[in-house]
Amino acid sequence: AYVVTESCIKCKYMDCVEVCPVDCFYAGENMLVIHPDECIDCGVCEPECPAEAIVPDSDAKADAWIDQNRELAALWPNITRKGTPPEDADAWKDRPGKAASLSR
Ligand code: SF4
Ligand code: F3S
Repeated sequence: AYVVTESCIKCKYMDCVEVCPVDCFYAGENMLVIHPDECIDCGVCEPECPAEAIVPDSDAKADAWIDQNRELAALWPNITRKGTPPEDADAWKDRPGKAASLSR
């Protein structure tokens, strides 16, 4: 499965949800996650994310986020249409150390 990682936090651009053929994104307050059992590994969402937050689970960057995608996808509502990203999304893009800012 593909995995949404820390780079999504406070960016939440949501371009990813518009291209997913199986609608397997789930939305928290300031981050999205992918349901690992629903993702069909098509890869089309990966290049759509302006924050480069989406990686395959084989990527080392996914390690810290695989379990959280599974856990949070079960808690958060499904999202299939792009909404309005946070006003300051661009200011948070590429910033390190955002994990502590995740709203669960
Ligand atoms: Fe959806 Fe494909 Fe991305 Fe998986 S890899 S989340 S199926 S767009
Ligand atoms: Fe997040 Fe990128 Fe989607 S910032 S909401 S994974 S387009």
